Amino acid sequence: MLGMGVVGSGVAEALFQKSDSLTNQIGANVDLKLILVRDKSKSRSFDVSPSLFTDNFDEIIERDDVDIVVEVMGGEHPALEFILAALKAGKHVVTANKEVMAKHGPEIFDIARERDVRVLFEASVAGGTPVVSPLMRDLVANEVNGIKAIINGTTNYMLTRMSTENIDYETVLKEAQELGYAEPDPTNDVEGIDAAYKLAILSTLGFRAQVKDDDVFCEGITGLSAKDFQYADELGYTIKLLAVSSRTNGEVQARVHPALVEKDQMLAKVDGVLNAIEIETDLTGRVLFHGPGAGSMPTSSAIVADIINIGRNIAGNAAFLDPVRLSETIKVQSISDLQTKYYLRLEAKDEPGVLAQIGSALAENNISISSFIQKGFDPKHGTAELVIMTHRATERSVQIAVKDIMDLGVVAGIGNMIRVAE
Ligand code: NAP
Ligand code: HSE
Repeated sequence: MLGMGVVGSGVAEALFQKSDSLTNQIGANVDLKLILVRDKSKSRSFDVSPSLFTDNFDEIIERDDVDIVVEVMGGEHPALEFILAALKAGKHVVTANKEVMAKHGPEIFDIARERDVRVLFEASVAGGTPVVSPLMRDLVANEVNGIKAIINGTTNYMLTRMSTENIDYETVLKEAQELGYAEPDPTNDVEGIDAAYKLAILSTLGFRAQVKDDDVFCEGITGLSAKDFQYADELGYTIKLLAVSSRTNGEVQARVHPALVEKDQMLAKVDGVLNAIEIETDLTGRVLFHGPGAGSMPTSSAIVADIINIGRNIAGNAAFLDPVRLSETIKVQSISDLQTKYYLRLEAKDEPGVLAQIGSALAENNISISSFIQKGFDPKHGTAELVIMTHRATERSVQIAVKDIMDLGVVAGIGNMIRVAE
């Protein structure tokens, strides 16, 4: 095993505590032979014999009695090089690494196929909630047309706490880190990068064409304020970090951003560290996966399941999940082509004609207002806060309209622009 942090400790615990059950399931024993770490002297949340630790990757790769390399160290490098070296040495790989799979999945699949070994990565998306294997096996007869998901437990936990308890951003981020949900560097969680990696993986599997992390438009949660939660609530919505991808006419659009979700929608009710992934398919219709998206033991569930799957095959007791076959290249649309409804919060002068000017800036860009709220007169600056909900419009027009509104001279600032989930 490469790494023994939050996830690795859970995997070690599950392997030791479920040893008899694993032997029964697989028809062979699973022995944890060596664990690669940076610091061999560090204390771990699950105790194993100190003789298992090494800080030398070559020691693992050179051992003939290592069949499976479990990569739970994270980061792009050297995890990628270690995964490739393991595959080239004829070892199967189980990984939780969404960054590596999102950026290098196809290269890894090719090498695995060439060497006739497997790479399984259920834990890379949605922690303990199965969605990778279902896409590779159970839904493989379907065409996937769309994915709509909450796939970052840390931000979902934070947004839930911020909307229900009115807790500030820094406190809630610290809580999420202490609970082991946040990535070592929380930037990836709060800027939506972690969710973009996961959406790239799901979209690649679903659309059977490579969708890279760079293809995913990405906006995080750091611009959200308590006011946005209050207005959203008043308007009948909650705010979620959504990961959405769709395929229409041979083109893909993939995006991660905060979105207003109507309170009665299923995704609005996914709270805390839970994840949910809605997959729209041609044969089955809409399928929903819902469950724990992060944390030590839920993630170990996915990793140990992948180990069992490979172990059964090594023991000659079952077929492998075939590596993904990517058959198409696909055009990725720009976020400017998105069509949805928008929430705009702005600070404007409270004077006659201001609303009319804002309304005509929107109308000139073919954007129709569906409702608005005006609140909070600020006597010092003579401004009030306006929240405008639009009908469906294109992102390109909304971006131009926002610039035009700023140029009017009566608007002090745009507080936020949030897309509405449809
Ligand atoms: P973590 O707690 O930071 O653990 C990382 C482990 O890898 C540590 O034991 C560290 O060793 C070791 N390591 C890192 N770089 C190394 C290097 N260059 N050489 C040797 N050892 C190295 O991370 P984590 O939360 O367990 O996450 C691991 C992976 O699982 C990541 O890919 C993450 O995205 C994924 N994942 C995490 C969760 C979750 O809930 N945390 C859920 C799903 C997937 P030391 O301990 O000696 O520093
Ligand atoms: N930091 C990730 C999350 C861990 O919060 O969802 C699971 O990938």
